[in-house]
Amino acid sequence: MGRMQAIIMILCCLTKEIRTSQTGQFIGASMSFTIINGTNGFEVQLDVISGWVLGLGPCGINCSRDSINSDTKATREEVLQKQGNSRFFGNWSVEFKTSSMKSSQVKDINQVVYSSLNESVVDVSENARWEQVWTVVRYPMIPDTPYMDIGFEGSSWRNLSLQGDNVTWHLQMKATPQLRSDIGKPNNSPQAISRPLYRLLLDKDNHIRIATIDPDGDQVICSISEYIEVGFLSNHLLPNISVTKDCIITIPSNRTLGYHNGSIGAVAITVSDYNVSGVTYGQRLTPFSAIGVQFLVQFLDNISEPFFIFPTPEGNHRFNIYSGTTWKIDVYAKPISPALIDHFTCLGRQHEDVKIINVKSTSVPNHLNVKMATMTWTPFHTDVGKHILCVGVEDSYG
Ligand SMILES: *[C@@H]1O[C@H](CO)[C@@H](O)[C@H](O)[C@H]1NC(C)=O
Ligand SMILES: *[C@@H]1O[C@H](CO)[C@@H](O)[C@H](O)[C@H]1NC(C)=O
Ligand SMILES: *[C@@H]1O[C@H](CO)[C@@H](O)[C@H](O)[C@H]1NC(C)=O
Ligand SMILES: *[C@@H]1O[C@H](CO)[C@@H](O)[C@H](O)[C@H]1NC(C)=O
Ligand SMILES: *[C@@H]1O[C@H](CO)[C@@H](O)[C@H](O)[C@H]1NC(C)=O
Ligand SMILES: *[C@@H]1O[C@H](CO)[C@@H](O)[C@H](O)[C@H]1NC(C)=O
Ligand SMILES: *[C@@H]1O[C@H](CO)[C@@H](O)[C@H](O)[C@H]1NC(C)=O
Ligand SMILES: *[C@@H]1O[C@H](CO)[C@@H](O)[C@H](O)[C@H]1NC(C)=O
Ligand SMILES: *[C@@H]1O[C@H](CO)[C@@H](O)[C@H](O)[C@H]1NC(C)=O
Ligand SMILES: *[C@@H]1O[C@H](CO)[C@@H](O)[C@H](O)[C@H]1NC(C)=O
Ligand SMILES: *[C@@H]1O[C@H](CO)[C@@H](O)[C@H](O)[C@H]1NC(C)=O
Repeated sequence: MGRMQAIIMILCCLTKEIRTSQTGQFIGASMSFTIINGTNGFEVQLDVISGWVLGLGPCGINCSRDSINSDTKATREEVLQKQGNSRFFGNWSVEFKTSSMKSSQVKDINQVVYSSLNESVVDVSENARWEQVWTVVRYPMIPDTPYMDIGFEGSSWRNLSLQGDNVTWHLQMKATPQLRSDIGKPNNSPQAISRPLYRLLLDKDNHIRIATIDPDGDQVICSISEYIEVGFLSNHLLPNISVTKDCIITIPSNRTLGYHNGSIGAVAITVSDYNVSGVTYGQRLTPFSAIGVQFLVQFLDNISEPFFIFPTPEGNHRFNIYSGTTWKIDVYAKPISPALIDHFTCLGRQHEDVKIINVKSTSVPNHLNVKMATMTWTPFHTDVGKHILCVGVEDSYG
């Protein structure tokens, strides 16, 4: 019998979006990093899951659900050429300050990043017109600096009616190169998973829970991204948005605050990891690292999207499983009549090989047109650790 694994599963509903004419290609991203002990010393390996307007992202102009799992090497290049802009998918930089420098320096690292880049398509919603890709890049650790702020920015977000047209995006990540006293290696960042788009109701206290884990077992704390962490959006927060330390975002979407039917806005959260023993003393500590999580929200007076019903396990349910065994759960989804459930999707933060099998109609008392599916995953011993898995459902409405 293998060692124990903790699995956290979130259930979420991938949904449709109203098609409007728009500018911009970016619809949010979440970052995380792990430390690799490479042949030339420690390297920061960044994992970025980013969302793009369908056909304007790295998945290419003919992106469809058939593109899921495909490599974007060729399609990314085609879009860059068509746009005539080699930075259309963002510009990478690092800010640091070695002991010999008087002030911090910002360095363009596009060449190193783009030459190590591997990327594949993780999800596509043809109805909602978005694509999501998983990008892995590496950059050598700069040892003699108290911090490395890796920035990813570009032009532009898709039209945000609550914040503006042609808004530049900026995400950043803080790494600290010092060796940790417990593991003898530099720190790994926390990990978070979010959907590219959440549809929320007007005139309601909406809550969005972002699932987070930390590979080093540190305490994870969420906050609204501020100042340079997020650029333009720091002065353009959604009215009255707040987030708790444990990552529950609240948006009271009252019309009196300026939210309207159809409004679209961007949310930017910073997720940091702190010394577990330090935080309990209530001191103001500096985090080991920080990552950005950004996504879109849309406000509607009526949401008609499919949803999960009992006996599907509750969101954020935690499962402990052993490597070598197969984990299985059944999920049940109900469409809003007259639509029908079209398909289930699944996303793991570490690209876990989760399968959706046995999709079939089933009868559940008091619910019409329910479909069920089984999610399965067989972790190997290399998967020991913490994982976040996310399941979505989409209906036939287009
Ligand atoms: C962006 O959205 C706003 C509000 O919905 C709209 O007035 C504006 O025309 C849109 N701009 C573009 C370029 O689509
Ligand atoms: C996209 O699809 C169109 C129509 O099927 C085809 O003509 C075109 O060559 C395709 N483009 C790419 C880059 O695959
Ligand atoms: C990319 O970032 C570098 C370093 O911050 C900056 O000098 C350069 O102007 C940026 N390029 C674009 C196209 O934004
Ligand atoms: C990208 O894939 C190649 C070939 O599999 C591999 O050698 C390289 O290390 C990968 N790069 C990253 C950043 O994972
Ligand atoms: C968007 O902003 C960029 C600079 O941030 C500018 O170069 C570009 O022309 C703008 N595009 C539109 C459509 O306004
Ligand atoms: C990193 O790898 C080198 C050899 O490749 C090894 O000597 C060193 O102990 C490793 N460091 C850590 C912290 O694992
Ligand atoms: C906001 O909307 C909620 C739900 O309609 C309502 O209970 C609350 O009083 C409203 N608050 C304000 C400040 O308008
Ligand atoms: C929004 O924030 C203001 C100022 O903190 C507060 O007075 C108001 O009640 C809040 N409105 C809602 C709907 O939460
Ligand atoms: C609300 O906005 C959505 C999307 O723009 C639109 O389809 C719907 O008809 C609107 N509802 C009302 C009552 O205007
Ligand atoms: C966390 O804080 C404790 C108490 O200050 C300290 O002994 C320990 O080394 C710290 N752990 C790390 C990983 O820095
Ligand atoms: C919301 O939409 C559903 C399905 O489109 C419809 O049956 C229902 O009456 C709508 N509710 C409101 C309050 O408009």
